[in-house]
Formats: sequence, structure tokens, C-alpha cells
Amino acid sequence: MARLRARLHGGDIYGAARELERDPTEILDFSASINPLGPSPQVWKAITAFRHLLSHYPDPNCWDLRQALATFWRIDPEQIVVGNGSTELIEALPRALGIHRLLVVQPTFSEYTAAMVRAGGQATALFADRSDQYAIPIDRLCHVMEAGRHDGRSIDGIVLCHPNSPTGQACSAEDIARLAKAARRRGLWLVIDEAFAEYCPDRSVLPHAASWPHVVVLRSMTKFYALPGLRVGYAVATRITTRRLQRQLPPWSVSAMGQVAALAAVTDMGHARKSLRFMERERERLRALLVALPGCVVMPTQANYFLLELPRGRQARDVTEQLRSTGLLIRDCSSVPGMNSRSIRLAVRSVQDNDRIVQAIAHLLHQGVS
Ligand SMILES: Cc1ncc(COP(=O)(O)O)c(C=O)c1O
Repeated sequence: MARLRARLHGGDIYGAARELERDPTEILDFSASINPLGPSPQVWKAITAFRHLLSHYPDPNCWDLRQALATFWRIDPEQIVVGNGSTELIEALPRALGIHRLLVVQPTFSEYTAAMVRAGGQATALFADRSDQYAIPIDRLCHVMEAGRHDGRSIDGIVLCHPNSPTGQACSAEDIARLAKAARRRGLWLVIDEAFAEYCPDRSVLPHAASWPHVVVLRSMTKFYALPGLRVGYAVATRITTRRLQRQLPPWSVSAMGQVAALAAVTDMGHARKSLRFMERERERLRALLVALPGCVVMPTQANYFLLELPRGRQARDVTEQLRSTGLLIRDCSSVPGMNSRSIRLAVRSVQDNDRIVQAIAHLLHQGVS
């Protein structure tokens, strides 16, 4: 069957299920990093209680959700724009902010570059070093921001995924503040994608972003809140910037159920605490299992996934395909600019699922799949 989209992203359980002639729910997906505890129980209740909204257009202003997010972050609701996933906001940003040349800190999520190209602009890359475990090159970034130029040409802004996917790296909130100051001095845009920042809240700059001109912070309801199928994300920026962004979005892009579910999710603090506690424990347990795989290198992470390098002589692509044929999806990162051919990303899932993937990888490595 023809594939309309290359496998740029994780999470395509449907494609795998068709190939394997299985039901999508039988696919075990480590390629998208979603909270293994699933959505808050309040989300299920809210969806049932508000199901009558399906026969109405959704609120085009996402009023209730923006109020709830504003209360959560103690900011003005006018400083929040909600989109059909943060992907829709990433798509709109180049046009909304008038960015023609964007510096992307690689290796990272591919949509920043893809959106720039679709908008008719250009993306240029600054690479984190493998030898430094892909730590965010904050001093080099500040330098570029101060100069307003990269590779001999001027730039309009920088996008930074923080914590970064697929590397798991994050720097301190103070370092991001330095970058934001440089952005302000130079009049350049700084876009911080905090899609995974719920897992390292003290590194987030969202609480400050609302008062920093030239800064946009993106959040997603997909990962920590486990709502990938509903497509909700939001941006926080100054009021002038959110108005510019909102103007680029189509009407009713956020569904009624997406709004209802996101509101229920952000207001359930109990589920959030439980999710964080689980992740702290299980991430360490999984790390120990991965570190014990002979020849594998496990990168440090601040998020709910691990970047893992397979032993020398093994190829991420082959291991990914082998696992896929057994219904286990992982993310092959060998085509991510700046990564080597042995790089894979694994989501942290339930105890049982994590044991299963480690055993499957150990088995393949033992068998000698190249
Ligand atoms: C770093 C990062 N940002 C943004 C997104 C988009 O998330 P969504 O559109 O589901 O909010 C993803 C999805 O994989 C991601 O990995």
C-alpha cells in the first residue's frame, strides 16, 4: 500500500497495523512518547458529560480552556492561543511572526524546518555535539543571537525544543533567560517548544514568557496529558504576538471534545502528580535495564523517553524494522540531522511494556541482526 507520508514521526499505529494485518490496539508503540498512565479519569467523565456538544460548532475562541490555562499559569487569557495540536501553531509561526530565515537547533523535531520550508522560508542548523551527549549549545546560541547571524547570513529567529526531542537534553531556565535577553536586544524571535516540559517543570520558562517580548512558548496536550488523538496545543506570548498568531489560524480548528478534554486534564492536579511520580520511578528502572544492554549507550534525559545508541555495527533502521514486524514500534532516529545510524528513541511506558521492549532488543542484539 502506498505510503502518503514518509515515517518522519512516531505514533503511526495505523500504518503498522495495516502492514501486519492486526488491530491498531495490538501495536505496542514506543515511538510516540505519551504518558503511560493515559489521560486523567476526569477527561473520560467530561467527554461523556459534554457529548451533546458534538452537534454544535466548537467555541472558536476556546474561551473556557484559555481561562483554565490562564488560571493555571497565572497569566492573562489573552496571552494564550490554542491550536489543533502544537503542530498547527508551529505551522503558523513563520507567517505570523514574519520569519524568513530560522535557526533550528539540531538534532531535533523535524516540523520546525518542514514548516519553514512550507512557508517559503529557510531553516539553517546549529548542531549540538554528540561528544557532549547533545547538550544544548547554549553559549554558541547566545553568541549567534547576539550577532543576529549564522553561516554568514542574518536570521530572524531561533527555535529550541526544550527539553529537546529526541535527545532528552534541557538547559536551565536561567540559560534560556539569557537567550531571551539576547533576542530582545537584537529584535529576533525566540520560539521555545516545551512539548515535554511537564517532566522538568523547573527548567520551563513559560511563567516568564508572557512578559518577554520576542518570545513564544509552545505547549502540547499530547504528551503528558496523553491526548494525542484529540489534537490540542497552545502558545503563550505577549498579547500582540498571540493576536498575530491567532490571525493565521483557521476558524474552529480545535474540536469541542478537544477543548472539553484539555480543560478537564489541566485541572486534575492529582493525576498530574501521580504521573510525575510514576515517571520518575519507571524512567530510572528502565534506564538501568537499557544501560545493562551490552554495547548500548544511553543518553541522559529530562523527558519521558530515552535516546539510545545501539552497539557499533548495528543499524537503527534494521532493528526498528525487525521490532516493527513483531508489533513493537520504536523511533529510528538515524535520519534526524546530526544523529548517527545507530540512534533510536524509546518512550518510557508501563513496567510490563518496558520489560518487553528491553527483552526484544536484547534478543535481537544477541541474535546479531545487523
Ligand atoms: C517536540 C515536539 N513538539 C511538538 C510536537 C507536536 O505535538 P502536537 O501537535 O501533538 O501538540 C511533537 C510531536 O511529536 C514533538 O515531538
